[in-house]
Parts: sequence; C-alpha cells; structure tokens
Amino acid sequence: MEILIRTNAASVATAAADIISDYAGRGATLGLATGSTPVAMYKELITRYQRGELSFSQCQAFLLDEYIGLPRGHEQSYFATIRREFTHHVDIDDARVYSPDGTAENPDEAGAAYDEAIAAAGGIDIQVLGVGTDGHIGFNEPGSSLSSGTRMKTLHASTISDNARFFDSTSAVPVHVLTQGLGTISRAGHLMLLATGSNKAEAVAALAEGPLSAICPASILQLHPHATVIVDEAAAEQLRHADYYRFTEANKPSWQGH
Ligand code: F6R
Repeated sequence: MEILIRTNAASVATAAADIISDYAGRGATLGLATGSTPVAMYKELITRYQRGELSFSQCQAFLLDEYIGLPRGHEQSYFATIRREFTHHVDIDDARVYSPDGTAENPDEAGAAYDEAIAAAGGIDIQVLGVGTDGHIGFNEPGSSLSSGTRMKTLHASTISDNARFFDSTSAVPVHVLTQGLGTISRAGHLMLLATGSNKAEAVAALAEGPLSAICPASILQLHPHATVIVDEAAAEQLRHADYYRFTEANKPSWQGH
C-alpha cells in the first residue's frame, strides 16, 4: 500500500486527478465513488477536460453503490449524483455509466447481475474509494464479509447520521443500500482511497495500520497488490508511520508509476 500525504484537501484532489487522468488516457474502466470526498477531484478532472487536456470518450464507469428505494431521478440517488457532479460535465458516454439498480424488486439478483456486468466489461481498472468514519468502503459496513459480492446491506447508525446532511432529516436517509462487495472491490486492478479531514483520521489509521478485519472493511486494502491511499495532514494525524510514508514517497524511484 502506498500512502501519499498532502497538505490539504485541494492537493489530495490534484494528486488523485493526476492518477485518474493517466487511466482516462488509456480508455480505462473507472470505478467511481460518490460522497463529499471525491467531489474536488471530479471538479479538477472537469477543468482538465474543459481545457482540452484529457478525454473520457473511451472510458466506461461503474458506481460503487446505490440507495435502495430511491428512484434514479431522485437528486440524492447516486445515479443522479455522479451525473450531476461529474459525468455530465465530461465526454463519457452516459449509457456507459453504470450503477446498481436500487429499485430492483430483487436486490440480490440485481447485485449478482451488477457483478456480472463488471466482469463482462473486463473488470474495473481503477476504483476510487472514500472511507466512512466507521471504516466502511462502498457501503460495506463493519462485519461485512471480506469476499462479498454486490448485495444489499443495512446502513450503520453512524453512516445514516453522517449522510443525513444530504437529506431533509435523518429519517429520510434510506436504511438499505446495494453496494459492490469487498470481493468485488478487491478485483479492481488498482484501488485509490481518498480521505480528508480529522474526522477520518481514526478510520485511516485503522485501515492502514490496524489488523485486517471485517470490523474495518477498508482494511482489505492491505490485501490488494496495488492500493494507493491519498490523505491530507488532518486525516493522517493518527498514522504512526507517517514519516516513513513521506520518506518513501520522497525516495520513490522515477521508474515507478502510480
Ligand atoms: C460513496 C461511498 C461511501 C463514501 C463514504 C465517505 O459512494 O461508497 O463509502 O465514500 O461514506 O463519504 P464522504 O466522502 O461523504 O465522507
């Protein structure tokens, strides 16, 4: 796992956009996250696209997760959110931006179909991830099977409370979600997790330096051969080996890519 520590959220977004730009140029299959953390990276990518520096025309994208019960037209559905915040502003074909179907009658079947669609597309080349304050990635809450496929999950009370800011009230936050499983996420070629702010410091330390455990689903990054964690100083503040990660980056050989 490579851990990159940046001074602030803006420089986390720039570092992440540099990596995604490389993949976009190769017509990659992108795994996209919603939530607040990657928004600044999406803005940076939109700016680069508008300047003519990159194109997503050969890319396709798969979202991590979706609320169950929200129609796709609901402004807080992740289907609508990723379009509003990113894909409608670049030249990716809208028909090639996929998300789990949160309105399916049978969520388990919809989850299995989603994993099949990812496999049929040749797999995800790079998966963007945020992390919940409880250590979730996607909506794999503590206790999630480390090898799970896309399926229904019940949100943790802490996630419902964290996400209430996007809704009129806490009770309006859907309780159930469809999320790529930890097994699904692990099959992506490259995992890139972003975290900013001191409220993420505990989760970042747990995922990077704690035990590999279902109690911290993000700790599956420890098993992945190509994982990049990009954090700001605030989110890095509980890392015991922060100086080592800085030293490693300062001494990174020029032949090593992202
Ligand atoms: C979003 C997702 C979630 C978020 C996480 C952090 O698609 O899968 O895991 O990445 O809840 O959310 P923010 O970035 O809003 O703190």
